[in-house]
Amino acid sequence: MNESNDWRQKRLGSGTSTVVTEALGQSEPFLEFQERLSRVAPINRPVLLIGERGTGKELAAARLHYLSNRWQAPMVALNCAALSPSLIESELFGYEKGAFTGALQRRFGRFESADRGTLFLDEIGTIPLEVQEKILRVVEYNVFERVGSSESIEVDVRIIAATNADLNDLARKNRFKQDLLDRLSFEVLFLPPLRERKEDIALLAGHFAGRMALELGWDEIPAFSDEAIAALEKHSWPGNIRELKNVVERAVYRSDAATITDIDFHPFYSPYKIPPPPVSKKTPAPEMAPAESDYWLGQPLKAAVWELKVKMLEMALEKAKYNQKKAARILGLTYHQFRGLYRQYQSIKNS
Ligand SMILES: Nc1ncnc2c1ncn2[C@@H]1O[C@H](COP(=O)(O)OP(=O)(O)OP(=O)(O)O)[C@@H](O)[C@H]1O
Ligand SMILES: [Mg+2]
Repeated sequence: MNESNDWRQKRLGSGTSTVVTEALGQSEPFLEFQERLSRVAPINRPVLLIGERGTGKELAAARLHYLSNRWQAPMVALNCAALSPSLIESELFGYEKGAFTGALQRRFGRFESADRGTLFLDEIGTIPLEVQEKILRVVEYNVFERVGSSESIEVDVRIIAATNADLNDLARKNRFKQDLLDRLSFEVLFLPPLRERKEDIALLAGHFAGRMALELGWDEIPAFSDEAIAALEKHSWPGNIRELKNVVERAVYRSDAATITDIDFHPFYSPYKIPPPPVSKKTPAPEMAPAESDYWLGQPLKAAVWELKVKMLEMALEKAKYNQKKAARILGLTYHQFRGLYRQYQSIKNS
């Protein structure tokens, strides 16, 4: 299994130090975040990145590395959630030949690979307690042992950790070591969710649209209509920037290459409708004439419901010869409920 990310290979082109993906944004929460990040980057201490999925934690970790004095050394990443608890220890610290069945030769772990550089521990909340203990020792004394060895190895690694979990809560439940949390939280940076940085949505959408158009080999980048931008800005973006990127890329490739008017937020929405349950087995709802359905659908639901209530109230009153108790019974309401409706009806009628 190789979940590793050697950031030098991934991010750097032929020995240069250019970070391929630049974090974009102009909104206040984003600029504030970037400023705090830039300030802590050169400080040789751990940083904890907290944010919802897709908010840019991995990108922020890369920026921390490249703005630090370690930028020429490797940045190594480990997604702890992608590994079983038993594998995390050997991935991080390596192992000696014969340490366990299948350990056919010595293997270096991520700590050794990241020596003099940065180790990015993603989803740190999933690390087992025994391994947390070992990480704490590296943070405090810069030493560890490979699995199956008693020889201490010295490394100089800066840890950047990321999570979406509530580590304080995990610590209260004894599922995360408070001592480690104290050390990792030298600086805690919260990534703003996209819904809190709406001013950046149009900018990011334009950026992702441009990149998609380029990938498709188009000469022109399609522009978003005002309605499309409004729809993007109204969406709550639970998947944050990753979701925006995906939605925009889909909209670009489906567009006519000139203007984007339609935004599909839910590609799983099925065109094959599940038939609604019959209203009543005895009396199925009558079919509506197209003109009638146009009439009802031409107004907001609230207005249509109110119009129907008024109609039924008047019909019931007429049928009950204006005896309100009888009218209430016809409508299946208590007299009290009927009076409430009737008062509302009268006040609107007389206004
Ligand atoms: N400010 C930004 N500008 C441009 N692209 C961004 C920005 N932030 C994030 N992205 C892009 O959004 C996607 C998600 O970012 P990233 O993987 O860093 O998020 P994450 O918080 O690590 O997500 P997860 O919690 O799911 O691992 C990536 O494709 C990344 O390049
Ligand atoms: Mg990530």
